[in-house]
Amino acid sequence: MEKKNIDWANLGFGYMKTDYRYVSDYTNGAWDEGRITDDDMITMSECAGVLQYAQTVFEGMKAYTTEKGETVVFRPDLNAARLADSARRLEMPVFPEERFLDAIDKLVKANLAWVPPFGSGATLYIRPYMFGINPVIGVKPAEDYQFRAFATPVGPYFKGGAKPLTIKVSDFDRAAPNGTGNIKAGLNYAMSLHAIVTAHNEGFAENMYLDPKTRTKVEETGGANFLFVTKDGKVVTPKSDSILPSITRRSLLYVAKEYLGLEAEEREIEFTELKDMAECGLCGTAAVISPVGKIVNHGEEICLPSGMDEMGPVTKKLYDTLTGIQMGRIEAPKGWIRVIE
Ligand code: PLP
Ligand code: COI
Repeated sequence: MEKKNIDWANLGFGYMKTDYRYVSDYTNGAWDEGRITDDDMITMSECAGVLQYAQTVFEGMKAYTTEKGETVVFRPDLNAARLADSARRLEMPVFPEERFLDAIDKLVKANLAWVPPFGSGATLYIRPYMFGINPVIGVKPAEDYQFRAFATPVGPYFKGGAKPLTIKVSDFDRAAPNGTGNIKAGLNYAMSLHAIVTAHNEGFAENMYLDPKTRTKVEETGGANFLFVTKDGKVVTPKSDSILPSITRRSLLYVAKEYLGLEAEEREIEFTELKDMAECGLCGTAAVISPVGKIVNHGEEICLPSGMDEMGPVTKKLYDTLTGIQMGRIEAPKGWIRVIE
């Protein structure tokens, strides 16, 4: 397979139109058989449910070229299950999980020329999503939906790659108690836009959101979960009902325990504990693990001892092991890697 002629090493995290996408329509209470198409345009009613009441959910995952030259996708079964959870919460029909996996196989296969080569530093980001498409004017769920998945080659989510980030504690909340923070719905990202633009204008890379009920506990950022390393070498990540259950974070907890022999736990983390942490990172499909060097709360600075030059040592081991598994350099736990045949 001849790859596209792209400067893979210098890609940022942006959209590039690739050759094919997958589409399936839900009408009269059933999903059609689905298809691969080269048409990247969508035509819908001016009154479509997604346009009026933001009835849309999505996923994010990546395809990689391994050292052996295989094309693989990392744990897509968990994305399928999470999309189903998101759909149920927004009163949308579930796109069957086996159909989701089949759609991803077909999408990646159709766009093999766009899967960045091994060692290029880039990956193929896959964006499955679904939305209400028929006219809706009273507040209620749509009746017809579309499921789509496209792919786009990407580089690092944060400019500067592995350089530690400076983030701020947001004065805005990302989620509500008993709200939708734990699903991947477009509405959670729409309401984070003012907060992220504010943070960027003030010179910060991202926001740290606190728990919306008490504003004393650490939640997550706009697009990644947190991971901390305590001074005695334990990996800890926030436990909360209002954060997205990150597949990367769940994988890293396993990697920490089973591959690196570290103690690792998911628990509530008080903001006041952060001054005693040794390392901090943001973890997610797009972020992989991006190290944090400094957290600023209204002028008060928490400087992580790992500094502003490079990842902390435990974060680095986690990063190397996770990416090693994804790129086929390290044997993966059973079921984590789906090979695109
Ligand atoms: N938290 C938020 C708000 C996200 O958008 C993402 C990205 O998907 C994550 C966490 C990380 O989740 P995952 O590791 O499943 O990509
Ligand atoms: C992902 O990591 O897949 C996400 O959806 C995060 C988004 C902010 C790009």
